[in-house]
Amino acid sequence: AKRVSGGVDHVELMKHNTKDDCWVHLFGIVYDVTKYLDFHPGGIPELLRGAGRDATPLFNQYHAWVNYESMLKACVVGPFIGDLTKLP
Ligand code: HEM
Repeated sequence: AKRVSGGVDHVELMKHNTKDDCWVHLFGIVYDVTKYLDFHPGGIPELLRGAGRDATPLFNQYHAWVNYESMLKACVVGPFIGDLTKLP
């Protein structure tokens, strides 16, 4: 993914909420999972529930044990520097 210097805020994160442009927040980091969607074992629609949002609660609900950090290493956009409470 293209890294954003200085981090990503909630306004920017929210813009990337489709299957052709899908960013998620997970544990303080924003990932561009657009290319990962096809490989998600839980399916595209499930992962899209976290699109442009804080996907951490959903992630924990379904598979808190999954090693997302190694899986999504190439998908890092940058640290989240916004306000999680302002996300949809
Ligand atoms: C399954 C990765 C986000 C819902 C899985 C599995 C992996 C994975 C590796 C297989 C787990 C296993 O079989 O033990 C990821 C990664 C995510 C992510 C890297 C990073 C964003 C989400 C989100 C949701 C979700 C946001 C829900 C809204 C599911 C479900 C399954 C699943 C329901 C179970 C599929 C099944 O057992 O048939 N995911 N996931 N995942 N994921 Fe995710």
